[in-house]
Amino acid sequence: MRYALISDIHANLPALDAVLADIERAGVDATYHLGDLVGYGPWPNETVARLVERAIPGVAGNYDSTVAAGYKHCGCRYEDPRQEALSHESFAWTLTHANRATKQFLGGLPFRIDIRPLGGHVAGPTVTLVHGNQALNTVYVTEDRSDEFLGAMATALGARSGDIVGFGHTHKPWERVVGGVRFVNTGSVGRPKDGDWRAGYVLLDVAADGAKVEFRRVEYDVDRTADAIIASALPDELARYLRSGGQSLAPA
Ligand SMILES: [Fe+2]
Repeated sequence: MRYALISDIHANLPALDAVLADIERAGVDATYHLGDLVGYGPWPNETVARLVERAIPGVAGNYDSTVAAGYKHCGCRYEDPRQEALSHESFAWTLTHANRATKQFLGGLPFRIDIRPLGGHVAGPTVTLVHGNQALNTVYVTEDRSDEFLGAMATALGARSGDIVGFGHTHKPWERVVGGVRFVNTGSVGRPKDGDWRAGYVLLDVAADGAKVEFRRVEYDVDRTADAIIASALPDELARYLRSGGQSLAPA
């Protein structure tokens, strides 16, 4: 079975459409999103509508659940006061511009999804999808997390050797095997932070003899997104951030 895992689209419709076209070329059995459909980008309603139209299931990111609940902030982490201010402006904009149908959809997303590529009638493997970790969609599972941290995460999720755990939230793609469990951070479709502005996602092939992970990067019309951000009341700095692959606001 071949899956496309797409995460952290963040209302960047041109990035999403470029990824969906790439997925179509690659050919998959199913596509799942790993949350953070909205926030920072100018097309929250259109992004949700596209996923509904394509019947793409997925889990709730921190941005999705905080917008749906009308929470006081997005549950994001900030590296400096400027980032914090930008984040609050973006959250307020998204709360205002996400319509009722969008908020209802975001509020209905499940916290985790378990997939059985070879069928539930055999023992495994299981692919588990969350946005952050097993307990909260706000926890950043970064590449520098220890084996002990990831081992505890596997235990809490009920993942065993041979299983795959997919997640996003950090916007930086990476993978590691700990105790036979494969941890795959898919990176971000619409707001990468690893210095590469191109949309990122993962193709995951699962067979009886193991799994293969391919990190994909797709060019898209970043000017269209940047121009739409500048034309909106969203902070212009968010456009520079996209073009720089998340480096324009990085601390020196
Ligand atoms: Fe995100």
